[in-house]
Amino acid sequence: MEITVDGVAVQATPGEMLIEACERSGTYIPRFCYHSRMSPVGMCRMCLVEVDTGRGFALQPSCMVPVSEGMKVSTESEVTKKAQDGVLEFLLINHPLDCPVCDKGGECPLQDQTMAYGPGETRFVEEKRHFAKPIAISETVYLDRERCILCDRCTRFADEVAGDALIQFMGRGNHTEVNTFPDEPFASYFSGNTVQICPVGALTAAPYRFKARPWDLTETLSTAWVDSVGARVAVQASRNRVLRVLGADADAVNWGWLTDKERFGFEALNSAERLTAPMLRDAAGGGVSEWQEAGWGEALDRIAGAVGAVPPERVAVLGGARLTNEAQYMWAKLAKGVIGTDNVDAQLGDGLDPAVVLGLPRATIDDACRPGGTVVLIGPDPKEELGTLYLRLRHGIVNDGVKLIEVTPCETGLSHLAQHSLRPRPGTAAQLVSALVAAAVGDGFEAGSTGVDRSEIEAAAQCLAEADDGVTAVLGRASLAEGAEVVEAAAMELSALPSVRFLPALRRGNVMGALEAGLAPELLPGRVRLDGVEDEGSLAEAWPRRPAAAGLDAASVLRAAARGDIDVLVLVGADPLNDFIDRDLAYRGLRGASLVAAVDMFLNDSATLAAEIVLAAAGPTECDGTFTNLEGRVSPMSRKVTPPGTSRPDWMIAADLAERLKPGSTEGLDSPQAIRAELARVSSVHSSLTEQALQENPVEGVLLAGAGATGKAGGWRRSGRPTMGRSPVGRTEPATGPAGREDLPEPPPDGAFLLVATRTMYDDGTMLRHCPSSQGLAPAASARINPADLDRSSLGEGAAVRVVSDFGHIEATLTADRGVPAGSLRVHWLAPGSPANSLIAAGTDVTAVEVEAR
Ligand code: SF4
Ligand code: SF4
Ligand code: FES
Repeated sequence: MEITVDGVAVQATPGEMLIEACERSGTYIPRFCYHSRMSPVGMCRMCLVEVDTGRGFALQPSCMVPVSEGMKVSTESEVTKKAQDGVLEFLLINHPLDCPVCDKGGECPLQDQTMAYGPGETRFVEEKRHFAKPIAISETVYLDRERCILCDRCTRFADEVAGDALIQFMGRGNHTEVNTFPDEPFASYFSGNTVQICPVGALTAAPYRFKARPWDLTETLSTAWVDSVGARVAVQASRNRVLRVLGADADAVNWGWLTDKERFGFEALNSAERLTAPMLRDAAGGGVSEWQEAGWGEALDRIAGAVGAVPPERVAVLGGARLTNEAQYMWAKLAKGVIGTDNVDAQLGDGLDPAVVLGLPRATIDDACRPGGTVVLIGPDPKEELGTLYLRLRHGIVNDGVKLIEVTPCETGLSHLAQHSLRPRPGTAAQLVSALVAAAVGDGFEAGSTGVDRSEIEAAAQCLAEADDGVTAVLGRASLAEGAEVVEAAAMELSALPSVRFLPALRRGNVMGALEAGLAPELLPGRVRLDGVEDEGSLAEAWPRRPAAAGLDAASVLRAAARGDIDVLVLVGADPLNDFIDRDLAYRGLRGASLVAAVDMFLNDSATLAAEIVLAAAGPTECDGTFTNLEGRVSPMSRKVTPPGTSRPDWMIAADLAERLKPGSTEGLDSPQAIRAELARVSSVHSSLTEQALQENPVEGVLLAGAGATGKAGGWRRSGRPTMGRSPVGRTEPATGPAGREDLPEPPPDGAFLLVATRTMYDDGTMLRHCPSSQGLAPAASARINPADLDRSSLGEGAAVRVVSDFGHIEATLTADRGVPAGSLRVHWLAPGSPANSLIAAGTDVTAVEVEAR
């Protein structure tokens, strides 16, 4: 439709607000409360403009007025200017004007708009309103109520976007203030977003307070690295130190929002405990000597010498999910194309079979959140593991009619919004999904021993049957105490539905990039199976060799190492002791390998236990490259600061090792761009990843072939696993899953529980340990059971208990939790001092535990 703005005809979209239509046509209207990602509230009146009402022009808040055909607007009339001037004068009456000591100074809309639209001087001589300032409303956010202009952005974000309405307006009139409830801090995983959107310096972030002025900072667009959503960020630094990370508004990904872990995780990179140079020690004779700093040449020679002296199958590489795509490709090339070992696994036992992840028809975040769509969550709690995906899904459910069916062992952060929450007994998810699908297509079904009522299955199936626009499954490991096969079998059952697509909910940073680059057994770059390469194409030109036989996954590598069958074990950004699902096996594997070398930013627990060589790696803000998120979207990661000491980018370390083992094997691969070009040559999946494509899509990134709604379905082998052929997206016959699993686990014996081990946003992982703002946020170890189970127990709420499985024990506090079904016991992964992987043995589908008093 056409409207007239200041006498000029402009095009507007029906339904949009006047403020947006004006901005698109080049007329900026000042505002404080309006935010394009939240509902308009008309709080501040800064956006008043004159609109022709038919009975003459009148002032209207342009953020609250939708455009209409023929609308006439004046943004520059005297009346409008007087209104803007008046609003600013009112806002400044009680404003402290402590700009010289205010973090917002220099990037403050109140400063800028006062200069542009406000009065030149104040007429207010009375005493201003005073509050104690600032007050800490959470571990990371400070509130200065004197500076607050009551715009409702923070409160709206907390309520509308995050669903954590912990910050509210209180009082009336002149005494209105923003605050938290007594004894309830603003304990939200997303609290940092309020600091970013506060239009004044009322909310400030502890890690940034008094660190810099905006004009001291330089900025680069990059990608968050802490989980697999790949939120876009702006990294800001001053004097070679990252000081702030802000959310960038990528329409397809994070909409400008970040979790606090993404926002404040950079603090770990500034830690004084970063590795700054290679270190060596001697582990001969059973003991270990002290760490000695070494030169790069000596350290690399020692690894290359050890690798060159043994057959390829006695070398293994674990990890790689925190690397850039380019570094992952170089490590894949080093391991598989130069050394010749296929014992490579980036997933550390907590992911899914790469054939499932890469072979199933894929969905994007937008697919999952499309209005009116249906989502089946067979995976982790997005709020705990993939925070920005949680915000997108939550928005879809609350605002766009997305229907959520949960198939999870425990309550999640979305349960209260779900249409149906089915809680299968651990190990029975596939059986439940089989019944769900059968009911949805009108076949008979058995609820069996899933622990879910038939009526609940029927109700959820009805919802599935009504999903005429297809279904998106968010697929991942809800409980690390359940084998990956349980989830893979459930996915297989669900794929029998027409038009179902899968959004992998793998947690580890760039894990999708690692799989696409071939950092998994039996896999080569570009979703090609090791045995699927028939021709001598560009891969053969680029790689001197290929592994002679299929290799081992993380569990098998550690088993082989424990047996003494692995001589050189390289950990690339991996800490198996804390991350692998079986702590005992990780320990035995690390101790069993003849030489353990670690490439990392920190000396983690595994390296401390067993490594003889540690190579200092550059961090995510210290090297250039790209990142592939869970939907297969590639976006740039950018170097903002130099790495500490002599730390090197991971790709460079791999290249240096490859040159020592096979001179000339990395010729020309002297930059991330050159590596990306080779990756695009050898992998048809990456062929769209050109420099031009990346430059043309700096914010949204580039979707790889096979990602999103253009992807084709994978096929299924008779063994029930999806297959990947030579083509980028696998065979094209539709997925047809076999019947459900027959080998269902037995219910636990009386008094025992089935273990559910779930990750939390904050835990005792290496990065978070070095991040001051998240220290102390990891929840203490708790053994969470249903209140009905607690009533039957002789132990009371809060009892100090020992959770015991056949494989180990941890200490925890017994806690009643309605979100845990009867018969299950939930523990948090990597709670401080109580690692849940002590209870689990690799290869077991379910784990029974008992609780005893300490
Ligand atoms: Fe000055 Fe801070 Fe107020 Fe902005 S918010 S006007 S910088 S005191
Ligand atoms: Fe607005 Fe900031 Fe006040 Fe919140 S604290 S109401 S965002 S000015
Ligand atoms: Fe319109 Fe605040 S921006 S009333």
